[in-house]
Amino acid sequence: MTLSPQEELLHLLHSGADDRTAPDILLRNRYGRAAFDDGLIRFGSCTSSTPSEAQWRFGVDRLVELRDRTLRGESLQSIEHEVYERIRARLRALMPIADESHRLVFTPSGTDAETVFVLLLRARCGREITNILVAPREVGAGSLQAAGGRYFSHHTADGRSVNPGDPVSPALAEVEVRSVEVRDEEGNPLDIAAIDQRVKDCVDEATGRGRLCIIHLVAHGKTGVHAPSLACVEELGARFPQDLVVLVDAAQGRFSRTGMQRALNAGEVFMTTGSKFFGGPSFSGLLVLPRTLFPDSLETVADGLAAYCNSRHLGVDGSDFGVPNPGLLIRWWIALHSIERYYAVPGDFRYALLRHFETTVPAIFSDRKRFAIRTKSVPPYEGTRLLESKQTVFTVTPLRDGHPLREAEVHRLLDRLGRSLPHAGSPSLEEYTALQCRFELGQPVPLGHGRHAVRIAIGGENISQLYDASHHAADSAAAAMQTLSRQLEALCRKLNLLLENLDAY
Ligand SMILES: Cc1ncc(COP(=O)(O)O)c(C=O)c1O
Repeated sequence: MTLSPQEELLHLLHSGADDRTAPDILLRNRYGRAAFDDGLIRFGSCTSSTPSEAQWRFGVDRLVELRDRTLRGESLQSIEHEVYERIRARLRALMPIADESHRLVFTPSGTDAETVFVLLLRARCGREITNILVAPREVGAGSLQAAGGRYFSHHTADGRSVNPGDPVSPALAEVEVRSVEVRDEEGNPLDIAAIDQRVKDCVDEATGRGRLCIIHLVAHGKTGVHAPSLACVEELGARFPQDLVVLVDAAQGRFSRTGMQRALNAGEVFMTTGSKFFGGPSFSGLLVLPRTLFPDSLETVADGLAAYCNSRHLGVDGSDFGVPNPGLLIRWWIALHSIERYYAVPGDFRYALLRHFETTVPAIFSDRKRFAIRTKSVPPYEGTRLLESKQTVFTVTPLRDGHPLREAEVHRLLDRLGRSLPHAGSPSLEEYTALQCRFELGQPVPLGHGRHAVRIAIGGENISQLYDASHHAADSAAAAMQTLSRQLEALCRKLNLLLENLDAY
């Protein structure tokens, strides 16, 4: 039986990463994201977004291309090699990674990028590693294990069945993780000085035992956290030039190219994904690694590495290992398309939309009896950097009778937001319209004491789509801002109706 391209694409999008890709009965991944949906208003790019129909059609075309090339006798390995080289060249052109001093390594997800990096570093330096994970609750749910070189899932990208918690390679059995919290028990952000101090203490302690430290610089966690401070990272770098490697966790994709340049110039490792801000399908990671940190030989970690990456992902010539991963290839192909679309939107339009989102969300969600809204604690950068200086994710605690919802209620709320609903009473026209709209928000984040917040995020696809829809207008930015405001107002109205009587929906 031959699958149609659509069926095969669906299968591939759900393959080649960890358990989170496995489809449920409605063919959605662990985050509830379907293969595509054109009727959704997407404000969930801090988790991942359901692809649009245009992205899906682009994926179908790539799948047909894959099939044609295979029928003409080309191997999947050689197609992967050619396509990843092309994606590398495009990313180098779009981002400040122009020269050859950095390697671009593709990983099945942001979480897997953690493990791949630990494997590569271990092979490079042969030292025992202490991995200092900052904001463990604000990165991937499996990041704590992944950063320790351990499986966090029952399956790996190459299809192995594994035990979560086991080391991915004997070479990593000694890796230890120190976590640095960024919130107190109440969920309130800790003072940046306290976070910096804890990081310094961890580095002092581990280097004192002769270990090599990785410190995570979280450049936008799930709720917008940036930590530790750049001053702290610079101070530690100067004190421990031989014993410290900085991994910038920009998995959210909410970074400016200026910020990325700073990191790469400083010799830091940069990690991002194509699946969050940029809006590609769920699960596609990228490591930008100084060549000086790339091992000469992969022998000591080859088996563990092959669970995640093949030689085409790593970009190593002359050796051919690891099974092809067509699912990841298609995901990255679609992600690149979205990244290119985003950067093709004029900078002043992007700037206007980002600023508009930042000021409009608090203005619309201003009812403090309904919404406890967190604005960013410490603006990380001032000035002209396009993304890092704006707030693109708002963490909102929905309140009922003044109290935060329980976890199950938050899930129900998110589920109902994603459906067109009939009104429980007699609606006004605005209420009727809002209930008809279907919204996608980010996954709930735990804030301690069983409380959960939801996240409202703007992503590259929102901006590209608003640009496409408005660029013929006399004042395209004004038209797009008006549409964005209307979408956010409808979201607020629907949330209010649901909070008034969640059980009725
Ligand atoms: C800051 C950060 N790092 C890492 C990850 C893990 O990325 P992935 O979901 O691709 O595994 C996430 C996921 O939300 C994240 O927000």
